[in-house]
Parts: sequence; C-alpha cells; structure tokens
Amino acid sequence: MAIKKIITYPHPVLREKAKKITTFDDELKKLASDMGETMYNAPGVGLAANQIGLPVQIVVVDVSREKDEKKFIPLVNPVLSEGEGSEIDEEGCLSVIEYQAKVKRFRKIKVTAQDLDGKEMEFIAEDRFARIIQHEVDHLNGTLFIDRISRLKLSLYKKKLKKILRQKK
Ligand code: NI
Repeated sequence: MAIKKIITYPHPVLREKAKKITTFDDELKKLASDMGETMYNAPGVGLAANQIGLPVQIVVVDVSREKDEKKFIPLVNPVLSEGEGSEIDEEGCLSVIEYQAKVKRFRKIKVTAQDLDGKEMEFIAEDRFARIIQHEVDHLNGTLFIDRISRLKLSLYKKKLKKILRQKK
C-alpha cells in the first residue's frame, strides 16, 4: 500500500470527467487500497480517484462505525438515482484546502456500482453516508462542493485561497 499525494483545487484534473473502469485486475485492487490508505492518512471519509490524479470512475467511502476502525468500501463506476428528500449540512473536501460550507444534498439515494471484481451491487444510502457518496460521485463528474455554494461565498473563498497560497510560497 502507498499513500498518494492529494491534488488540490484549482488543479485541472479535478475538473476532468472520469472514465469508466472496464478492467478488474490486481492493479485496480492496489489502486483501491492505496486510495483507502491515502484517505485515512489525510484524514478523510471519502476519496475519488481524480483526487490522486487519475480520472477513472472509482471512489472509496469510509463505513467504519467505531472511532478507531478503518473500514471502507470501494465503489467502481457508481451511478446514483432516485434521490429523495433534502438536507443541508457542512461539507469539506481534501482537495479544497481550509474551507467548509453548507451544501444541500439528497437525504436518501439509490446507489448502483461494481465491486473490485466487477460484480454489480445496489443499495440505498441515507443521511451522512448518502452525503459522502454524492460528494464523491460529484468528483467523478469534475464537480466540487464549492460549485454548489453561492457565487459570493465562492469568490470569498478564492480570495482566501490566494492569500493562503501566497503565504505558502
Ligand atoms: Ni472531496
């Protein structure tokens, strides 16, 4: 396993539409385990492949129930449908440094995806789990949560980010 570098906004790879995965081999399993390790190291609760520079359709999502548990599921070629209800809650992203904002998401959603062997799965996600999956699937479409906030908030964040990046130099 290896920890990968997480790419941050405004890098263009975060805007690419991820390609569908058609080969289910050891390389894919290694990618998933690297993504899991990278996510927990950050630490985060979800990670899409674009975020480590690979625009392919795989995300990992934390499903641990205990505080020190590290359990995640990989979702390959995930598709969301039948969104129901809505909820506004605070979101952040490992690729959007030093920022959180309230984002509206479906409260409940149907998820269709494949596992690392290409086997189809289908389940209903709710609440926090549904939010994480919607956020990660957005990444595969080149969308970031800051695309879902007001223009004013976004322009304030851009200013803040400029300052942060200047200080880092
Ligand atoms: Ni994110």
